Amino acid sequence: MTSAALQSLQEIDPHYPVPRVLEFLSAPDNAAFLEYVHNDPFGCHVFPGDIPNHPLDAFLADMDEGIRQAPRIHLWSYIPTCRYRCHFCQYPTIILNPQSASSQVVFRDLVDYNIKEAKMWLARVPSLAQAEVGEFNIFGGTPSLLPEPELRRLMAFYTSHFNFGAATMRFEGEPGTLTKDYLALLKELGFTKISFGAQSFDDRIIAACGRMHSADECVETIHNARALGFDWVSVDLIYGMLGQEVDDVRYDMEKTLELELSHVVCTKLHMEEFMKRRTGVSGVRESLWQKKGLVDKNDMRFPGLGKQYQMRELVELYLADGYREHPTMYFHRQGQPAEKWKALITDLDKQYPEVAIGLGGSSKCIGAEAINITSYPLYKQALDENRLPIDETRGMSPMQRELNAFKMALSTLIPVDDRVYQRRFNGKSFFANPVIDSALATLTRKGLVTVDNHVVMLTPNGVTLVEAIINTQFPTSQFPTAQA
Ligand SMILES: C[S@@+](CC[C@H](N)C(=O)[O-])C[C@H]1O[C@@H](n2cnc3c(N)ncnc32)[C@H](O)[C@@H]1O
Ligand code: SF4
Repeated sequence: MTSAALQSLQEIDPHYPVPRVLEFLSAPDNAAFLEYVHNDPFGCHVFPGDIPNHPLDAFLADMDEGIRQAPRIHLWSYIPTCRYRCHFCQYPTIILNPQSASSQVVFRDLVDYNIKEAKMWLARVPSLAQAEVGEFNIFGGTPSLLPEPELRRLMAFYTSHFNFGAATMRFEGEPGTLTKDYLALLKELGFTKISFGAQSFDDRIIAACGRMHSADECVETIHNARALGFDWVSVDLIYGMLGQEVDDVRYDMEKTLELELSHVVCTKLHMEEFMKRRTGVSGVRESLWQKKGLVDKNDMRFPGLGKQYQMRELVELYLADGYREHPTMYFHRQGQPAEKWKALITDLDKQYPEVAIGLGGSSKCIGAEAINITSYPLYKQALDENRLPIDETRGMSPMQRELNAFKMALSTLIPVDDRVYQRRFNGKSFFANPVIDSALATLTRKGLVTVDNHVVMLTPNGVTLVEAIINTQFPTSQFPTAQA
């Protein structure tokens, strides 16, 4: 395993600088980091609880209390429909032909079930109806497939049952379906932020990952959204995909700058089963590339780890002047705000609750978290039986609360200030937490963080490896889990 990882790490493009992290990851002492990045789990989205089988009523009571105390929350709704399945994607999706008559029934059902689930949340978590929504997101899947009447129905429900007084509204679509008319509809409904996946600006690479849109359509969507007055357009890019070379990522970065994107998400291809690490939205199915393995096709190859880090460093180089990374992978233009929903749930001075409605969604507050059912038939069955479609709930011991708060803060890439931490934990310093203190000693020795005057800062290698740091350096098993 480690020799395969080392081999992959040594695969680099001679036309680009040797990646900075290569020396660090090659050291036998750092094998845990190498193993982690070689497996590519999705690690920076959910910070799980450590108390399994937390009773549902206790979870809901924790959420009620957490929401009552927070100045605002992140609320999201997940629409799982897609018109094709991308080869890298494990998200819970329902693949359909949006034009067919049978699909209209699916859209109607999805909105019905989503509203029913939201009503159950409102009934069981009384503080939710009044809570100020900081940002409302419609995530997917491809919500831009929802027919206009269904989207209007969904939004009429949310805006009349939740406190949207101060909310920004953000919508995640797919470029082939975010037409001018659809964007105009979103604008009329109050959305000001649009996000969609391009994955690459190269048609060859877009096609190789099974997507059915062109790079030109992505560019057109960006121009149309701007012309309609969307002040925030975010594009998802992936590096490490089939046929992708370091040069291709350079092209993606040149396009990003040329298009003056307000926001860009640059993610390394993740191949490990999402469910193992639990993501914001968890999948039930393996992606095609997981099922078949990373098999090179025709003249196209998957880049190894060394090239992936050359790609990552190229992203950093291109975006260094005009953009800031906050949190990891999310780059916003300087002078424009960072990704708001991410800041609401992960910044150390916030870490507010989030409520997720829909297939595979995950909700959390300081004391507990839950993940929804990921199979559509089981999701429907739960709601038909008037049960919240929650698959698993976990509580958080006092130790886990501290660790999660610290790890989330690290993931933002903002220096972690002990004085802010102390305000969160009744004057307790993170240096007084034995797991954090010991991890900081190791990370300092390895040159991944610096500690200066109460503030922990990631070094450049630390920034690149932050997911590996979070997921390998803060063991919890040595602490017996508290009882619920
Ligand atoms: C669930 S999708 C929603 C966006 C929309 N469905 C689209 O594809 O245009 C959110 C983003 O997650 C990213 N993603 C999904 N699976 C991934 C994987 N295995 N590795 C890295 N990124 C992934 C993609 O960049 C994708 O655009
Ligand atoms: S990446 Fe987006 S469009 Fe592709 S299958 Fe996943 S959710 Fe659907």
